[in-house]
Amino acid sequence: MLFSDTTLRDGEQMPGATLEPADKVRIAQALDELGVHSLDAGFPASSEADRQAIRLMAPVIKRPVLTALCRTLPSDIDIAEEALQARARHKRGVSLFCGTSPLHRRDKLQKDRAQILRLILDALQYATERFEIVAFSPEDASRTELDFLCEIYREAIDAGVTTIGFPDTVGVLTPDGVRDMLRHIQDHVSNIEKALLAVHFHNDLGCAVANTLEAVQEGANVVQCTMNGIGERAGNTSLEEVAVAMSLHPDLYGPLGSLNVSRLVPTCRLVAELTGIPLPINKPIAGQTVFATEAGIHQDGLLKNPDTYLPFRPELVGAEGVQLVLGRHSGRRAVEHRLQALGLRFDAAHVNAVLEQLKSQPKGTLLEDARLREIVTGIKPSTGASDVTP
Ligand code: KIV
Ligand code: ZN
Repeated sequence: MLFSDTTLRDGEQMPGATLEPADKVRIAQALDELGVHSLDAGFPASSEADRQAIRLMAPVIKRPVLTALCRTLPSDIDIAEEALQARARHKRGVSLFCGTSPLHRRDKLQKDRAQILRLILDALQYATERFEIVAFSPEDASRTELDFLCEIYREAIDAGVTTIGFPDTVGVLTPDGVRDMLRHIQDHVSNIEKALLAVHFHNDLGCAVANTLEAVQEGANVVQCTMNGIGERAGNTSLEEVAVAMSLHPDLYGPLGSLNVSRLVPTCRLVAELTGIPLPINKPIAGQTVFATEAGIHQDGLLKNPDTYLPFRPELVGAEGVQLVLGRHSGRRAVEHRLQALGLRFDAAHVNAVLEQLKSQPKGTLLEDARLREIVTGIKPSTGASDVTP
């Protein structure tokens, strides 16, 4: 599978996520190490900061193709060409978009179908004369009439695009709709094998990851995602979630390709730090508590074999490891384990004292190691008790 990352463009569109050009370069380098195939590096016609970031990335990012977002305007394509000029031709591209749904045609662009198609094809001709890699996305594809959508794709491919995009711009689809639309497109776009099919989902219904996985099963070649799922409104498909789901189920989704999943958590953390958009503590893959367990039965199982209560080991994605925290729901095994880890001498009376303390632990708090030491060192071990210190 080819992963295209749009953290630096759609991700940055999230309110408050604005990145300085130098920060974008740092994230792009991390995404390069992670092994993404292409980077949606920004929308250069939109701001000098976007142009500057792309100019900085162009000579230093090694492997991914860098693409610049453009409207169907020659001036946008010229600006992209200037910003990307330091990059080898086979490593740079433009990604054009134009609203195609009835709403966009009527209320945003005031153009009919024929005018929209002309606008797209003229811009694609301009782009293909200047770039080897050209993608086209019908914006609001998921609300565009299927016959018009297929006509646009056929014509765009004939015009020489290398990738056709399928954006669910307002995140309105569910997996069944994705399956039906992609099947229709593949059955009715006769030249579809000449271009890659890239899918791009927004998360307004919380379905972006499920939709992306459905699209993979339906033959999508490229999945476009953002780190931490940041992006417009409810965000985009979370790259780390798709990558791990694919890596756990190659029988369903095929090989993961060049992505190095052990770089996921460090990259998620870097994006959170530089965008200032914190990871929710329970965010799948990289959230602070997703490998932490407080409940006694789970702690006991995890100590016997981590796989009892984990879908995958934290080390797989570059996280530190399972954390057994001590709170109201914790049990004897976890207390003993923590005391051993701290190198404290203890017996059953000490453990009972800690368990007593845990019962009265204030809501939402955990027992810190310092307090644990205090409790244990304040009680004299009873004579003859078995010492479980290693
Ligand atoms: O969601 C969307 O439609 C987009 C386009 C610019 C492709 O991000
Ligand atoms: Zn988008």
